[in-house]
Amino acid sequence: MKKMANIGVIGLKVMGRNLALNLADHGYRVALYNRTVSVVDEVMAAHPHENFVPTDSPAAFVNSLEKPRRIILMVKAGAAVDALADTLCEYLEPGDIIMDGGNSFYKDTVRRTAHYAARGIHFMGTGISGGEEGARFGPAIMPGGSPEAYAAMGPILEDIAAKVAGEPCCNYVGPDGAGHYVKMVHNGIEYADMQAISEAYLLLKNVAGLNNEQLHEVFAEWNEGELESYLVEITRDIFATKDEEGYVLDTILDVSRQKGTGKWTALEAIELGVDTSVLYSGLNARYMSMFKAEREQAAKQFDKKSYNICLKPAELTEMVRQSLYLTKIMCYAQGFALLKAAGQAYGWDLNFVNVTKLFRGGCIIRAKFLQEIIEAFSESGAVDNLMLTAYFGRKIEEYLPALRQLITVASNTGTPIPAIMSAMTYFDAYTTATGGASLVQAQRDYFGAHTYERKDRSGSFHFDWVAYHGNK
Ligand code: 6PG
Repeated sequence: MKKMANIGVIGLKVMGRNLALNLADHGYRVALYNRTVSVVDEVMAAHPHENFVPTDSPAAFVNSLEKPRRIILMVKAGAAVDALADTLCEYLEPGDIIMDGGNSFYKDTVRRTAHYAARGIHFMGTGISGGEEGARFGPAIMPGGSPEAYAAMGPILEDIAAKVAGEPCCNYVGPDGAGHYVKMVHNGIEYADMQAISEAYLLLKNVAGLNNEQLHEVFAEWNEGELESYLVEITRDIFATKDEEGYVLDTILDVSRQKGTGKWTALEAIELGVDTSVLYSGLNARYMSMFKAEREQAAKQFDKKSYNICLKPAELTEMVRQSLYLTKIMCYAQGFALLKAAGQAYGWDLNFVNVTKLFRGGCIIRAKFLQEIIEAFSESGAVDNLMLTAYFGRKIEEYLPALRQLITVASNTGTPIPAIMSAMTYFDAYTTATGGASLVQAQRDYFGAHTYERKDRSGSFHFDWVAYHGNK
């Protein structure tokens, strides 16, 4: 009798094929299918893995799988997911599982989960992070869907996921869109983290005057300490990368594009009314970067004066390090604030310790200090904001003077550091018990009789400002 495949992968571009190889290396028999069938042959020619089961049609693919059938879709987010899932449903039976491992928008996942559940099929929207390398040797996996589906699929996912301290960077996140939501927030943090690092680069290069070799050394040192992370590590390597023309970085245009997951995070934060200004600054910086020609024109028009900052490069470097650390912490504080709001709005019981464990290895934002975040959440339980935990509270107090001073430096030298500045403003806004909102309430009531609340009693109040001052 022919041996059935344990799991199937559809979509054999870079991520799909590497995930399939990862599964096969872990001893699973993996059915392969791709809409352009010749791609299956290409994969088989390049990787004739003994655990691969090539197929040439959706029917053959489905029929090669043991039951309940476990299928991973690694196709472009959007219409392709619906089209493929619909086709598969013609051959699937109740209890079978379709897992979407792409960067799908969580609302599509919520819709698909309900749609396929009506046909008895479990749909699992699952975030996968780590790029090609992660997919091949251990990604971070953020699975959503029904607990029954996770019971069947989870052990395999945990097996192939990255491991940190023996624990897999994969655990059940929550129903329907929860997994893709967490991946979306991961990407929002990813954008801001990259932006904050690029601001550190700009300051060290333009203000401290460091060259690529020195930048490489600074990032190498940072990566040995509390900033140790995947993004700092690859940045260190970028500074030391040369081809026949010299440093590759110096040949790259100052424009950064995106596929849009960071935009979803910002839109969601707006939707749920959560301040994610640091995350948003990463997105805005990419937008601003696209106006390259206008920026060049404006740079010619304004002769920005730079004031002497009277700092030695080593002093400035340490100031940047501390500020980068705090900015990264604010990225997580905002990311978790958004997750908290989403959990409440969509009825997901998100466990922050488990979510942080997902980010600890395999993914793009993996970092050493996530261990401290795990401990802070474990000790503090349902804390409102990461800033309020004992460990990060102490860190903020320690590094705040550097952050404040760095902002003066950036301002005096005309260096744009929106993520770092937003981190400062976020902290100041969150820790100001009485801000300027009373005046905004008064203005709304003045021009639109929108009413206001009072400090001393509850209810809505209106003052006849116009009668008092006369029509303007
Ligand atoms: C990951 C990445 C991955 C991809 C982003 C890039 O976790 O592996 O987030 O999903 O790199 O989609 O996003 P942009 O093209 O929007 O920068």
